[in-house]
Amino acid sequence: MTNTLIKEVKTAFLKEFKTAPLLIFSPGRINIIGEHTDYNDGFVFPAAVNKGIAAAIEKSDTGQSTAIALDLDSTIEFNLDTLKPSKEGSWENYVFGVVAEIQNRNKTIGNFNIVFKGNIPGGAGMSSSAALENSVVFGLNELFQLGLSKEDMILISQKAEHNYVGVKCGIMDQYASMFGKKDHALHLDCRTIKSKPYKIDFKDHQLMLINTNVKHSLSDSAYNDRRSACEAISELLNIKALRDAKEADLETVKDKVSPENYQKALYVIQENNRTIKAAKAIENNDLETLGALIYQSHEGLSSQYKVSCDELDYLVAQAKQNKHVLGARMMGGGFGGCTINLVAKNEAEAFAETASKAYKKQFDKDCSVYFIELSDGTHLVK
Ligand code: GLA
Repeated sequence: MTNTLIKEVKTAFLKEFKTAPLLIFSPGRINIIGEHTDYNDGFVFPAAVNKGIAAAIEKSDTGQSTAIALDLDSTIEFNLDTLKPSKEGSWENYVFGVVAEIQNRNKTIGNFNIVFKGNIPGGAGMSSSAALENSVVFGLNELFQLGLSKEDMILISQKAEHNYVGVKCGIMDQYASMFGKKDHALHLDCRTIKSKPYKIDFKDHQLMLINTNVKHSLSDSAYNDRRSACEAISELLNIKALRDAKEADLETVKDKVSPENYQKALYVIQENNRTIKAAKAIENNDLETLGALIYQSHEGLSSQYKVSCDELDYLVAQAKQNKHVLGARMMGGGFGGCTINLVAKNEAEAFAETASKAYKKQFDKDCSVYFIELSDGTHLVK
């Protein structure tokens, strides 16, 4: 699957630019648990997957740069000296943003051409954007020998998202996409930006994604609003981030915050604790506990943090009706995208079929099921 993508971008690059490019694969990610905790300096538990973005990149000697999004059949030519964000929602902002952030670090790059294509549907909550940003920064670092570390690169990708895309995201997606490790999930401390890899072998269980195939609008502004609310409460509590708060601390400012924001902060504190407990459950091979934590996470995301939607809630309810699914929850920023399900291996297909049929009946729309493999992070393809 990945090989086909790589061949496609290579062929398209050769056809268009007549030189052999560097080839990069940059994966998307899943997240077992720990949602909306990253920008609160908390813990998350993501893994890179075998789906993502393939990019072909090489220097250009024509005096200008070109980026081609093969899936969209869209080409843009640009000048490195006059970059500014394109209109909201444009794919080129991911490319421009990375270039601009590299330049902000006083690193010099020359013109380049890039062709990319992905196999993560946009809006799936699997971080196709981080995969793209990382592929661009990784490619430019190689091409122009910028000497950036992987840590530098993910911070550049994150800033690109903040300043060019307009989403004040945390570091989870870029980290997981860059540092992913085959067969492992990464228990990441978003304050220190250091992670502990956990080998994920659930024996007779597995992780499975179901994509609602919806992405409700306003998700970006809702995301930024939640981040601001969390920061405002941290300030009230006189702490750096909600990661430093206990439930009892929150009680002390209860009358100073709205009931809605109180619930949001409470969710973050609880989710952070769940993420730590989930790591213990995996260490102990205790999948029942892991599954229960995953269900609790969804409950919190839906009723406290309010980032779910009917389609996600419906798929989680379907999972709850099936005793072979130990846990299910929405994954990523929310308002659409995928649920992640911890399901018995020999029952996964049957559950996928039942849930898909029910979903179609309920929403007159198809959902998509993905069986994923945990994979290595952004890398050069030889
Ligand atoms: C998006 C953001 C991440 C993270 C998740 C929610 O994917 O890019 O930084 O905040 O939402 O956990």
